[in-house]
Amino acid sequence: MKGIIGCSEDAQVIIVPICKEDVVRGGMMVGGDEPVEMELRPSAGDKEALTWVCSPSDRPGMLFIGLGERTRVDVECVRHAAGYAGRAVMRDKLEQVQVSFGSLAQCSLSAAEAAGAWMEGWSLGSYAFDQYKSAAAKRVVPVVYLEVEPSEVVEERIRVANRRAEGTMLARDLANEPPNALRPETLARRVQKHFEDTLVRVEVLPVSSLELQGMAGLLSVGRGSVHPPVLIKMSYVTDPSKPLIALVGKGITFDTGGISLKRDYNISDMRMDMAGGASVIGAMEILSRSEAALNVVALVPAAENMPGGNALLPGEILTYTNGITVQIGNTDAEGRLVLADALLYAHRLGAAEVADIATLTYSCTGALGSKYAGVWGDQALVDTMQEVAALVGEKVWQLPLADEYDSYLDSDCAELCNVSSVGEAGAITAALFLRRFVHPSMKWVHLDMAGLKEISAAKGYLAQGATGFGTRLLAEWVLHRAAQHEGKEGV
Ligand code: BES
Ligand code: ZN
Ligand code: ZN
Repeated sequence: MKGIIGCSEDAQVIIVPICKEDVVRGGMMVGGDEPVEMELRPSAGDKEALTWVCSPSDRPGMLFIGLGERTRVDVECVRHAAGYAGRAVMRDKLEQVQVSFGSLAQCSLSAAEAAGAWMEGWSLGSYAFDQYKSAAAKRVVPVVYLEVEPSEVVEERIRVANRRAEGTMLARDLANEPPNALRPETLARRVQKHFEDTLVRVEVLPVSSLELQGMAGLLSVGRGSVHPPVLIKMSYVTDPSKPLIALVGKGITFDTGGISLKRDYNISDMRMDMAGGASVIGAMEILSRSEAALNVVALVPAAENMPGGNALLPGEILTYTNGITVQIGNTDAEGRLVLADALLYAHRLGAAEVADIATLTYSCTGALGSKYAGVWGDQALVDTMQEVAALVGEKVWQLPLADEYDSYLDSDCAELCNVSSVGEAGAITAALFLRRFVHPSMKWVHLDMAGLKEISAAKGYLAQGATGFGTRLLAEWVLHRAAQHEGKEGV
């Protein structure tokens, strides 16, 4: 198990998370002189402050990491602190460390919560996408000993933390992958290989099946690329008598905009336009490892949005399986086109409720920035999303499904246009578009994570690059929804 409970003789550094109010005193012997009394500055306890105290002998040094004010310390503070500490220790190429949680005894966290949060933040913070680096530049994640009383609760918290981190790192690995290494079919093969010999069954629907299923959006968006589209379907069904929960993640392996080509100077981040898909894949990893009694299916409509001789043209009209016709105003609004197929398919599979997640609109980033994802949908599902968001530290903010803007999607010759005719509320109109493809009997929640797919410089447990946002959130959301179905409360 990652995160060993106990102490180590060979720890090269003792890491001590401290609060702002903590007074840390110690003595020190320098070259045979009298011991020198030393005290850490109070600012050592400032949130995220790192203070090294190196030992002149071969005894381990100490690394203090500030958590900020004691009354405000929560699991998210601990996760971030562990992320900072993990990277600092890795930079120094240390291999074995020990964490002392003494100062947390006076906080409101239990030892199990602290140990779990530490391991989650530690693994996620020391992540790096280094597959393409030379062996010398690859990271070595140090072994961590946790100074806590061993108990079943502590062990379980650490197991939960480890699988949450593994799922998120899987999502990051996929989203960070360059577009030449991750086409729709390669993504599908990666998923098949990953879930081989697990409880997750993977099916990949090729173009011929997409045609049979009438997936007009996915087929059209994928038409411009020499790399054909696929629908990746992952099922984890341990109790078919329970309601089916569906997850849908946008899987555009590269979004050039298509014929409505993007004009920005650098669009290389559009290799991460499958980050929503990556997070549902990561969530399936967490759920299957949890071995919870659940019934969940994850769908990733995957395509490469390219211009080309056969590409989708502005003005084309698509017909979806629910009879809705959509005229293409802009081929860069491709996410909603492929999600629509997957939402319709989720209902055909019998899903009682569905959560979709996508890097859908610039507009959402304009509205909420890079720290909050937009959330829309049925209130009970949104409520659960907000509840679990607070638990995992992946923030969401509810925006309205404003009927007043429905007409912005009117089209002259089809039922809908894929873009709004009015230059406002772009994230909301995208959500309103999706709503048209959600069967009234299926509950639905939608997440727009356009602003959260990556971070340009490491921060806490977010390592530079893809964040894996949504992975822990969706896994926890499914677990909570399933528990609510069991208890029939708030469903
Ligand atoms: N993938 C983009 C949205 C995006 C932009 C995600 C930046 C992450 C970072 C999406 O397909 C897109 O291009 N959306 C357009 C829609 C518009 C044409 C209606 C947008 O948001 O401008
Ligand atoms: Zn686009
Ligand atoms: Zn896109």
